[in-house]
Amino acid sequence: MTRHRSHWYPAPKLVCLDGMTQTLTGRTALVTGSTSGIGAATAHRLAAEGARVVVTGRDVARGDAVAKEIRDNGGDALFVASDLTAAPDVLREFAKEATDAAGSPIDLLVHNAAVCPAVDTLALSDADLEQTLAVNIRAPHVLTAALAPAMTKQGQGVIIVVGSWMAEVGHPFVGLYSASKAAEAQLARSWAAEFGPRGVRVNIVAPGATRTPINDGSDDVIRRMTENLPAGRAGLPADIAAAIAWLASDQAAYVHGATIAVDGGITTTRAA
Ligand SMILES: NC(=O)c1ccc[n+]([C@@H]2O[C@H](COP(=O)([O-])OP(=O)(O)OC[C@H]3O[C@@H](n4cnc5c(N)ncnc54)[C@H](OP(=O)(O)O)[C@@H]3O)[C@@H](O)[C@H]2O)c1
Repeated sequence: MTRHRSHWYPAPKLVCLDGMTQTLTGRTALVTGSTSGIGAATAHRLAAEGARVVVTGRDVARGDAVAKEIRDNGGDALFVASDLTAAPDVLREFAKEATDAAGSPIDLLVHNAAVCPAVDTLALSDADLEQTLAVNIRAPHVLTAALAPAMTKQGQGVIIVVGSWMAEVGHPFVGLYSASKAAEAQLARSWAAEFGPRGVRVNIVAPGATRTPINDGSDDVIRRMTENLPAGRAGLPADIAAAIAWLASDQAAYVHGATIAVDGGITTTRAA
């Protein structure tokens, strides 16, 4: 299985993005799960907008490659490995290590990493159950608790949860994944209430069916799911990254606790 498909997240040119000024200059971002797919595209996009980006995930080769590609394009990125199934103490150590490596407090945190065991309830193994809860819910909770205090201390920060359209609908074979994404989105709404008054905006970007390694090998399924949508196609990681970059910027200063569906219309029109 080819895990690193750079054509899924075309690296934007850094100096001039659509002829506009960079919107994230001076910001320090941590994007979980940025060794692949939507996370890698997001790391590229945030760097293109001027942020210093900590790329992270378990795969050192892919993580180093993403960070190097960003630097080769003139951006600022480094890779710090993490396994988000780790115990809370280890995750808190990782948060400190990432902050130290970046050289300044993380003020833009994107909870993007997730696992999606594509099996029904009866077939789900105990190991998949534990891993999904750990990566999709426990790790975002622990990392937010570890990193939000530095944001509230400086009175500014942004946290973005990458949710899913599947959090909104019942699905016969990804029940736990869908539930975990709904739980993560609810955490984000609570964080918006908790940290918003102290300068930290928290929002959710909910992708639809997007072509990434998480659904590698399901091309026909993705095509069938998306060809009749208003958008008429599957999402691309760059589509999701663009929404994340906008939410991260001051252009979204009045957006708190919102869910931005970047799903080609799948959630609102699928029944039509
Ligand atoms: N693709 C879609 O159709 C779709 C639709 C809706 C929502 N989403 C959401 O979009 C986000 C990104 O998904 P994607 O499609 O880009 O998936 P992907 O290409 O499979 O990427 C998943 C990322 O999560 C990281 N990850 C997984 N387990 C980890 C662990 N134990 N510790 C640390 N990192 C871990 C992986 O890094 P390593 O392999 O290096 O550990 C990888 O970088 C997820 O939140 C997903 O729920 C995707």
